[in-house]
Amino acid sequence: MVQIIPAILSTSEDDYARDVSRYQKSSFFQEGWVHIDFMDNIFVPNKSIEPPVIAKHPINLHKEAHPMVLHPLQWVDSLVKVGFERIIFHIEAADTSECIEYIKSQGLEVGLAINNKTPMEKLTPFIAKIDVVLVMSIIPGFQGQPFIHESLDKIRKLKSKEWKVRIGIDGAVKDDNIREIVDAGVDFITVGSYLLKGDIDENLEKLWEVINE
Ligand code: DX5
Ligand code: ZN
Repeated sequence: MVQIIPAILSTSEDDYARDVSRYQKSSFFQEGWVHIDFMDNIFVPNKSIEPPVIAKHPINLHKEAHPMVLHPLQWVDSLVKVGFERIIFHIEAADTSECIEYIKSQGLEVGLAINNKTPMEKLTPFIAKIDVVLVMSIIPGFQGQPFIHESLDKIRKLKSKEWKVRIGIDGAVKDDNIREIVDAGVDFITVGSYLLKGDIDENLEKLWEVINE
């Protein structure tokens, strides 16, 4: 069964607190995970809240971090400190090997995110060491962008390799593309703006309806 993971991308503490409280109130997510985006304004042209903000607004969901940053290794300690259980950083960033090892040494799950333009083969040297591959279906940095349809080809190719990793997708998932995404073979789906626009429970229900149609 595919898993839907709600996403938070916040550039201010107020926005973060608002989105946390909205997800927290949604009955669907009591036992689930939340995907929290971090940005350094270098790897992507946007800057997010810093990890210490997370501790100020507790959330009863398992937390995965998606640092869209040039030096993910420098972020690991602060993410561990505020209770993240999984860190998914970018294959296009620096220090990939060291970062994988360090995250694992801290007892967390580790994943690699891959941008649309990056060849899948880049993952090969690391695949045996990671738990998750996150295929980006937008250019990272902002919520509410258009869906990059070729990301589905990447998912199908990844799936055909039969690597022992879970495959996720991140970016612009909506009711009009989620069925195709599930059919491509993902294990989990990150959804931001589609859920946060309007009533979260209703929006999530709509996604499940389309998946189960
Ligand atoms: C984009 C982030 C995504 C984003 C998803 O840079 O990595 O996780 O929050 O939001 P939507 O679903 O609006 O693309
Ligand atoms: Zn993300």
